[in-house]
This record gives sequence, structure tokens and C-alpha cells, in this order.
Amino acid sequence: MQCCRRSVNTQNVGGLILSDKFLQLSALLAGARLYGLGEKQAPLLNDLQWRTVTLFNRDIAPTENVNLYGTHPFYLCLEKDGNSHGMALINSNAMDIVLQPTPAITYRALGGVLNFFVLLGPTPRDVVTQYTSLVGRPFLPPYWALGFHLCKFNYGSLNVTRDVMQRNRDAGIPLDVQWNDLDYMNEGNDFTYDKDKFAGLPEFVNQLHEQGMHYVILIDPGVSAAEKPGKYPPFDRGLEMDIFVKNSTDQPFIGKVWNKVSTAWPDFTHPNASAYWKEMLTNFHKIIKYDGAWIDMNEPSNFLSGSMYGTCADEKLPYKPKAIPAEGLKYKTLCMDAKHYAGSHYDLHNLYALTEAIVTFESLREVRGKRPFVVSRASSPGLGRVAAHWSGDVFSRWHDMRASIPDLLSFSLFGIPMMGTDICGFNGDTTPELCKRWMQLGAFYPFSRNHNTNDAKPQDPASMGGEVLSASRVALRARYRLLPLYYTRLVRAHLAGDALAAPLFFEFPSDSNVHAIDDQFLIGSHVMITAILHEGANTTKALYPGKDPWYSFRDGSFLAQDQWKEVTDDDMVAVRGGAVLPLQEPPLKGPINTAITRSSPMQLLVAPDAAGGAEGELYWDDGDSINSYEEKKYSLIRFNTKNNELSSQVVWWGYGVPSVNSISILGQTKPIKSVTINNVQTEFKYDTKIQVLTIANLNLALDKSFSVKWTY
Ligand code: NOJ
Repeated sequence: MQCCRRSVNTQNVGGLILSDKFLQLSALLAGARLYGLGEKQAPLLNDLQWRTVTLFNRDIAPTENVNLYGTHPFYLCLEKDGNSHGMALINSNAMDIVLQPTPAITYRALGGVLNFFVLLGPTPRDVVTQYTSLVGRPFLPPYWALGFHLCKFNYGSLNVTRDVMQRNRDAGIPLDVQWNDLDYMNEGNDFTYDKDKFAGLPEFVNQLHEQGMHYVILIDPGVSAAEKPGKYPPFDRGLEMDIFVKNSTDQPFIGKVWNKVSTAWPDFTHPNASAYWKEMLTNFHKIIKYDGAWIDMNEPSNFLSGSMYGTCADEKLPYKPKAIPAEGLKYKTLCMDAKHYAGSHYDLHNLYALTEAIVTFESLREVRGKRPFVVSRASSPGLGRVAAHWSGDVFSRWHDMRASIPDLLSFSLFGIPMMGTDICGFNGDTTPELCKRWMQLGAFYPFSRNHNTNDAKPQDPASMGGEVLSASRVALRARYRLLPLYYTRLVRAHLAGDALAAPLFFEFPSDSNVHAIDDQFLIGSHVMITAILHEGANTTKALYPGKDPWYSFRDGSFLAQDQWKEVTDDDMVAVRGGAVLPLQEPPLKGPINTAITRSSPMQLLVAPDAAGGAEGELYWDDGDSINSYEEKKYSLIRFNTKNNELSSQVVWWGYGVPSVNSISILGQTKPIKSVTINNVQTEFKYDTKIQVLTIANLNLALDKSFSVKWTY
């Protein structure tokens, strides 16, 4: 076990301390390139100069050097020889992780057991695959969830919600999902809606469905604990079913979140909790046919630090993790002596969101009878199996936009590929320039949503207008065009591990130039996103690594090879040689959503590598049914290019795929003489300037293998 010896060496670095509430272990690291350990706001590559990372789920607007919403004591270490391994600590307690320049690491947990898993790699993708086999493979989202999402805290009424949505659709913004924040609720209470300001909400949602669109609502975990008996079933039924988190005297633990007076929290570890939550979600779905659940405030967040009644028991911490405030662990959450069915809040705090997400996912699956879509703010290992995540309440600042990329890439490592950040920023007013650049970047987040806070100005693309609107249109159209690739890669992540968004070192682990790059990222293995991330800039310097050519996604022309290059926002998307990409062009006129784009013809983009070869695949199903794969109601086609021939192989045909209407073959330096498809001569176009061969106006069915050959 050469790899394990390299990965874990605990000699002469401090030994092991094991006690009930203090567990400490130090180890030498096999390399100084360490990624992961979060959730935190920091560069992707960890700083080992005596950095302490505190992990304890917390509701706080993301800033540096504090614990944020999620806890992931998992790292990936890139070793000197380009191999990598992973180390997962499965422990739910609050902890500090101290990174040292030796290089070394010290774990200091306030309870539980030191349950470590070493993942042997050797490639970074192998590490993610092994980690997700341990904590759970990512859920497969419905296809519509890959579309663009629009939200704002405090649209304040259905009229405003409808107007915002309509003006974006009318402006040609590809849009799939309209959301409502808690202002749709009556007095901030879950499973109710404001029948005055949101009168007609059920009908509105039905209309969305008729247009092929979807609707997601916010659900907070805590329910109002102050409604009159018989008036609010979520509280009455919770008491009857005995599912609330308890205080030390076995009464429901009461705090306060958005509800007018007080809040009680379901204990999702209770054996009755699934039935309770399913009943709530089902009954509300009978009224409003929502499609997805946005589970917020589930650190769990409490506006009080502890209980509304009485004080919390002394936490008696043997050690206070570095970023925990003076008030202790209870700061803005429950008392640590609050009781769950499965144990004390002290031990289970970090698992609250995970248990809520599991129960929500299972309930939604039954309620809708289709694929669940759950988006959770707090997280811990395994969340990706049931939920997506977003970065929470980031500020409308350039710094926060830049920080969204390392955050996205860290969550790729944590097995949570459906990840994004509130585009244009959540807290504070955005600016046209920032919002334009953020839309250009956020259009490519796996989870792409524009959302902001109640007292900030509207920032949807249509309300921003001008360059924000035109740039959003272009970027989102490119996203929608790439969705067959996003989806195929997510299916792969779901079935076999792997990531969707990836850091450059995933493809070039031995190239030290890429190890710290976290302002560019990959979608899959060959598509690179490079956004302009600095105020006042119109270009950015990007690295195009490796020996294969990179092509512009815009027109297919050669862009760069193994070099740094200054690019404009025309070249935010680049394709590395070696790929056959399945694409679908969104319509040029009328509203755009994934339901419409999915019926457009397929296109194939062939980007040959330095030796003229390329490979790719397309997975296709109805995009929303449960078990499409297990029931074999899908199609999987592989594409291969070598020696001037593109061929396809039908691995499985169980669901109709739109035919291919155009094929572009990039990097053709010599003029093309002839093209045949299945040995029949075909018309083609060759553009000498951009060196692209295009075969258009096809109607090439994908259910049988085909061969396209070209000669010079
Ligand atoms: C906190 C969430 O992070 C934010 O996105 C949301 O708008 C507010 N809660 C209000 O529900």
C-alpha cells in the first residue's frame, strides 16, 4: 500500500489525543497542494501557513476566515509526482483543522470518533469517484433544473413575480424556473401562501407548467409555534406526531426565525419525521404544484442564540474552535443540549440539513412522481446525493464574484456538483458592470440562478437592460447550447462518480502552472470557462494548458495552444482538442426554455486533438422520470474521430433523440476535397479563414451508427 504510506504519516507530529469532547490527530501531508476542507471563502489551493479552518454549520454572509453554512472535512492532496489521494474524516462535531507548512495537518474535533477514509486516487477524478462511492453519488437533476433560474427575496406579490418573469422571457432570456422566496408565505409560515398578495398563485404555477416551465418555493425547516390550536396543521401535527426537537425538559425547543412570534424545528432523525414532512409537502402540493424545494436556514439558523425560554446548559467546551464567537456554539442556533431522537444537538448540529434534505428528497419524489429537485443552504458529506447547493448570502462585490469559482470547485470535490452562487450578488445593490460580468460567469455555473435580497434593487437581466441584458442573452444561449454536455456529464457523475465543473488540475495534474488556477474552470474535461472578473477590464489573461489545441466555442477557430493568452468576452468558452460535443441551439425567436430547446436538432462539434482524434458521448432520456436509466428508457451514443472519420456507436437505444442537423469539424488546416456520410457524397462548406469544415442541413438519425469521412 505504497499510496497509504505516503498519505498518512502521524509520526513525530504531535501524536493522538482521544477524550470524550476533544479528539486530536496530526499527520504529515504527502504534498503541499491541498484542496477542499470547507465550506469556506478562500482560494481553491489551501494556504498551509498555519491556517485554521473552523467547521460548524453557521448562518453567516460568506466572508474569509469564518465557518460558513457547510462542513466538509475532506481534502484532495496532489502529490509531487502528479498523483493524488483523498482523505475524508467522517465526524459530525464542530472542529478546527490546522494547516501547517511542514506540510502537515492537525484535526481537532469536539466529539465523535476519528473515522478516516483514505481514497487512493491516483487521478483527481478517481478521488472524487471514490469519495462519492463513500458518501453517496450525486442525485440526477431533472433536465429543467439545468436551465436558468430567477428569484428575488420580496417580489412582494404575484403580480411582480409574473411581470419579472414575463419581461425576461420577452427579452429573449432563456428561462426555465421561476422561484418565490418566503414573501409568498402567509406571515412567514411554511405550507401557507399569502392569499391576498399572492392570490392566484396555484393558477400561475399551472400556467408555468403549460409553458414548459417550473416553479420552486422556499421552505424553512422551522414552523410557527405560536398559532392557535386547530389553525396551523404543521404545528398541531408536529405535536401529535411528537417530531419536534426537544429542550432539556422534553418540551418542544422554541426559538425564532421568520415566523412572527416563535419557531419549533422538526427533528428529522425522529422515526415519525418522514411521515410528518411528507404529509406537509403533499398537502401543500395539492394546493400549489411546486416542482422543487429550496430548503433554507437549515444550519439550523435561529435569530436567537439558544432558546426563547430559559438558558442553554453550559457547553463546557474543553476548547473553543477558532472562529466560534464568544457566545459559544449556540450562537444563532439551537442550544447544544437540545435533544433529537438520535442524540444531542451538540453531536447532530452539522447533520440537521442533511437529514432534512434526505426526507425532503424522498417526499418530493413521491409527491411529484418525478425527479426531486432540492436546493439546500447548509451541507455536510453526502448532501450531494439528495440536493444542490448555493453559496448563500454573498455580497454584490467583485471579490465575491471571484470567490464563487473556488467555492464551486470545492463543492465539486465534495460530491455536490449542482452548485452556484447568487448571480449579480445577494446582499447590497449590484452595478451594471458587475452584473454583466457575473451573468457571463454565472451562466455556466451548474446551478445558475440570479437572486438577491429584499432591500436591494431588482437585478434580473431585463430590469438591468443595456449591456447586462445583451450579455446575459449571449451567455445563457451558449449555456443552453451546451446543456446536452452538462446533462451527459451529470449522468456520469450520478452513475459512476466524477465531477461536472472541475479545476484545471483535474486534467493537467502534473503541470504546476495550473495548480493554483481558480479563475478559470472546466465543464467536463474539454470545455473551459474564462470570465472577466475585474472591474474596468475588458480582457483577461487565460492559460490554455496542454499539448492539444484550444478552439473558440464562438466560431470554432483556433484560439491557443500551451500558452497564456489575453482574451475578450467573445472567447469565454473554449473547447480543447480531443472532444466531440453534442449541442442543441436554442430557437432564435420566441421564448426559450429547456422544454423547447430539447426538441431542437442535435449538432456535433468535433474538436480534434494534436493527433486528429476526438471522443464524446451523449446520454438522453425524458429528463424528468425517476429511474430512466434503471428502466433502460434512455439512449447512449458514443462518438469517435480518427483518421479523418467521425463515427458513432449506439451503446443503448431506449429513448428517441433528435436527429443531427449539422456537424462542424474544427482545426482543418488543409482544404477539404470531399465528404461522405455512410459512403454517400455530401455537400459541405469549408471556411479557410477559421479552418472549419461544416456539413449542414442534415437529418442524420442517431439510432444507427454512422460514419462521416472527409478527404483533402
Ligand atoms: C436566507 C437565504 O440565504 C436567502 O437566499 C433568502 O433570500 C433569505 N434567507 C430569505 O428567505
